[in-house]
Amino acid sequence: MRFDIISCQPELLTSPFSHSILKRAQQKGLVEVHIHDLRKYAINKHGQIDDYAFGGGAGMVMMIEPIDKLITELRADRAYDAIIYMTPDGQTLNQKIANQFSLLQNVIILCGHYKGVDERVRQHFVTHEISIGDYVLSGGELGAAVLADAIIRIIPGVLNDESSALTDSFQDGLLAPPVYTRPAEYKGMKVPDILLSGNNPKIEEWRFEQAVERTRQRRPDLLDE
Ligand code: ADE
Repeated sequence: MRFDIISCQPELLTSPFSHSILKRAQQKGLVEVHIHDLRKYAINKHGQIDDYAFGGGAGMVMMIEPIDKLITELRADRAYDAIIYMTPDGQTLNQKIANQFSLLQNVIILCGHYKGVDERVRQHFVTHEISIGDYVLSGGELGAAVLADAIIRIIPGVLNDESSALTDSFQDGLLAPPVYTRPAEYKGMKVPDILLSGNNPKIEEWRFEQAVERTRQRRPDLLDE
């Protein structure tokens, strides 16, 4: 899967893709991440990519021309399955949306800044609008990194232990059950006996019950769905 991420603050995106699972996914050739500096497509030599809003009001608006130029250049080389705009008024990201995106081949993610992009970009280029939650970030970059991470980790082959993405919270509509590791007892705090029993069917049953109970307590809305 190929990601082309459009940003006017590309430095914000280097670290998330340079470590751990996201780095390994690229090294394994399963994912390509290309980060594009929108300022290279500025309308003048001052690097201008935004302007005042028509009609007045505080805050700058990202102009259509630099975005059009960059997207047109990208599209000349390949077709894109989705052009995703990161914005607080988009559809709130969840596991199901991440799963759906993970089936795509080529995706553009556009990071907003300031007061957002000229509405014509949204009308004529953008195919999906995604928010990572009901709060406003300084820009779309952190959201883009969150979205890309959620997608990349479920691409087959990215995680070494494939079953581990399938047992994540939300994959089966439940939160994940509690987990423990050594030592079996620490300062009097004990691991549940069942996990040390070696009885795998019973352990799976216990995990399922714990997942349901945790979901009932913390996210009853998930059980309603
Ligand atoms: N840009 C600013 N706030 C955002 C949010 N909550 N989600 C995605 N992109 C954003």
